[in-house]
Amino acid sequence: MAIYLDNAATSYPKPEEVYRAIESFVRASGANPGRGGHRRAVEAEAMINETRRLLARLFGVPRPERIVFGHNATDGLNMAIKGVLRPGDHAITSVLEHNSVSRPLNQLEEERVITLTRLPASADHLIDPDEVERAFRPNTRLVALTHASNVTGTIQPIAAIGRIVRARGALFLLDAAQSAGAVAIDVERDCIDLLAFTGHKALLGPTGTGGLAVGDRATVRPWREGGTGGDSTRPVQPEEFPHRLEGGTPNIFGIAGLREGVRLLLERGVESILAHERALLKTFVASLKRPERLVWYGADRVIADRNSEGRVGLVGVNIPGFAPAEVGAILDDQFDIAVRPGLHCAPYAHKHLGTFPQGTVRLSVGILTTDDDVRRAAEAIDEIAAG
Ligand SMILES: Cc1ncc(COP(=O)(O)O)c(C=O)c1O
Repeated sequence: MAIYLDNAATSYPKPEEVYRAIESFVRASGANPGRGGHRRAVEAEAMINETRRLLARLFGVPRPERIVFGHNATDGLNMAIKGVLRPGDHAITSVLEHNSVSRPLNQLEEERVITLTRLPASADHLIDPDEVERAFRPNTRLVALTHASNVTGTIQPIAAIGRIVRARGALFLLDAAQSAGAVAIDVERDCIDLLAFTGHKALLGPTGTGGLAVGDRATVRPWREGGTGGDSTRPVQPEEFPHRLEGGTPNIFGIAGLREGVRLLLERGVESILAHERALLKTFVASLKRPERLVWYGADRVIADRNSEGRVGLVGVNIPGFAPAEVGAILDDQFDIAVRPGLHCAPYAHKHLGTFPQGTVRLSVGILTTDDDVRRAAEAIDEIAAG
């Protein structure tokens, strides 16, 4: 049977309840929300607003209408970066970022709209809050960082960083693509002004869902303007949330699935999901006959000795003598195991690891991954490493 260990790219399969929720919603009331005022349109609007309330509960967002839906985390990050930064601003980011953070910032820097500081990571793949503090300039408007790296799996010290950013009067944008649904998030406690999330990874929804939670301190210019289904008389985008940032028909099929995914997470508790994923990583490492044959980038010690403390449910490894793409192809072709080799859209993170340009082989577990899945992956990797 096929084994899926690419949950950091997208969670798969989704829980049965998610599939059923999409089907039953779209069959019963799949109308365009708010556009007509007829019963089905009102039901669609109510479903979307309920999803906002559930996400607000999950992230500690006080005002659900400040949860703005878009296509994915990339959309939320672009909304934030392009909506907040102005000519002459300085932004701080890090080497651990996904291209969905790095590229929009690099582009603005290349066009000389902003200046940019890219912070290094420590040997433990963490961003040092003191380095963030030192990087501040009088014109620093935005600090944009990942919560959990999709390459190293390390969870960043965001509480300490958030306090610094708040004290300095800048805005803190957190890329929660790998953490939303897997790590507890509280935007108020951690001083997060802008939280970009994706719906299709640990939040268990379908692809094409995600967005941005916008705190009260942030003024975000809309970068996608259009119809909002409400007052059409205004010549420009309305001021009110969520319409200010939500031009166009939303992905109601997707959001119906996301609603169910978030409901399940709130029921089970994010902490229990993370504990499950960490236990799976431990089983994976313990099941390898000769773990020392792999290159671990420090992850093996943390997984085996410290219960994956400070990590999400992914690990990147290399097998000496094999290119990551080769390992990925062998696992796929000969063992029917899906993993993700390469650079994972995070070239600076791989430069930090010393694995650029080939990358690593990333195995990532999810809510439905079993002990048996990771044991069989360990057997396959042992077999490949043994040549
Ligand atoms: C850390 C990180 N940020 C952003 C993204 C982008 O997410 P999406 O493809 O849903 O826009 C990903 C996806 O892999 C990611 O891992």
